[in-house]
Amino acid sequence: MPLDMCMRDSSPMDLEKLTAEIDHLSTLPDIVFKIMELTNDKNSGADDLVKVIQTDPSITTKVLRMVNAPYYAVANEIYDVKKAIVRLGFRAIREISLTVSVCELFKSKSNIHGYKRSELWRHLVGVAILAKMISERMNLALSNQAFSAGLLHDIGIILMDQYCQDDFIKVMQNSSENKRCVCECEKEVLTFDHQMLSYGVFEKSEIPDSIADVMRYHHQPQNSKEYAALNSLIYIADKLCNSFQIGYVDHCEIDNPTFNYCLNELNIRSIDVKVFVEEFPELLNSAVESYTSILN
Ligand SMILES: [Fe+2]
Ligand SMILES: [Fe+2]
Repeated sequence: MPLDMCMRDSSPMDLEKLTAEIDHLSTLPDIVFKIMELTNDKNSGADDLVKVIQTDPSITTKVLRMVNAPYYAVANEIYDVKKAIVRLGFRAIREISLTVSVCELFKSKSNIHGYKRSELWRHLVGVAILAKMISERMNLALSNQAFSAGLLHDIGIILMDQYCQDDFIKVMQNSSENKRCVCECEKEVLTFDHQMLSYGVFEKSEIPDSIADVMRYHHQPQNSKEYAALNSLIYIADKLCNSFQIGYVDHCEIDNPTFNYCLNELNIRSIDVKVFVEEFPELLNSAVESYTSILN
């Protein structure tokens, strides 16, 4: 994997040039795009998902391992994907498949000024599960996309780690030593942040527009034109995961006007947030542990 795409003399890095050089297909495994297509296609069903999963024996094995993890509490061990879909449902198996396909990216051990890839993985899984929990609890019409959006929202951080490592080290050093927002530090060093980088790489890929939009606006949900609600959900889940100290924690303080904007956008009251804070951390932690075990 090239680590020096951002290397340059003293001129600012050209985002357009960089995103043109990063091939989205070499960034995420092909199977991720196929599973995402099923998310968007209302006519797709269990058989389509089984076909996609079974093209990859290692993914199939991991999906079955996850299905039988304590978190899902199935009474008898499940040995095939079709039965897993019958037992846990299409959406659950789609989410598990997506997660085990994306997790390959996080296996290499990068440890930079308090940032570890495995901790970013815990953050992404945490935001994905929490976004889904909030969506289901509040009956939001976002449950279909909440998990995928959470899982991929910070994928730009991995791209920086992979393709701009020298600059990324400076970003993480500044963020951790001075307790500053990672986006601010990224813009200072590189002139763009992880949102702009991931959007540039994935906007023309097969990833659904809503997910690309979340990659772009999850720190400024009010700037999203079409997907303000989904961005708001991810903003809330992101901030709550940080406050629960699950995985990698950005040093950004909660911006109250933005947080309140998100609550309004989704019709969530402060009292509901209190309930999330009381009820969700235990279940969330056990889910994140199950999903982290597949990294090993
Ligand atoms: Fe982010
Ligand atoms: Fe995040």
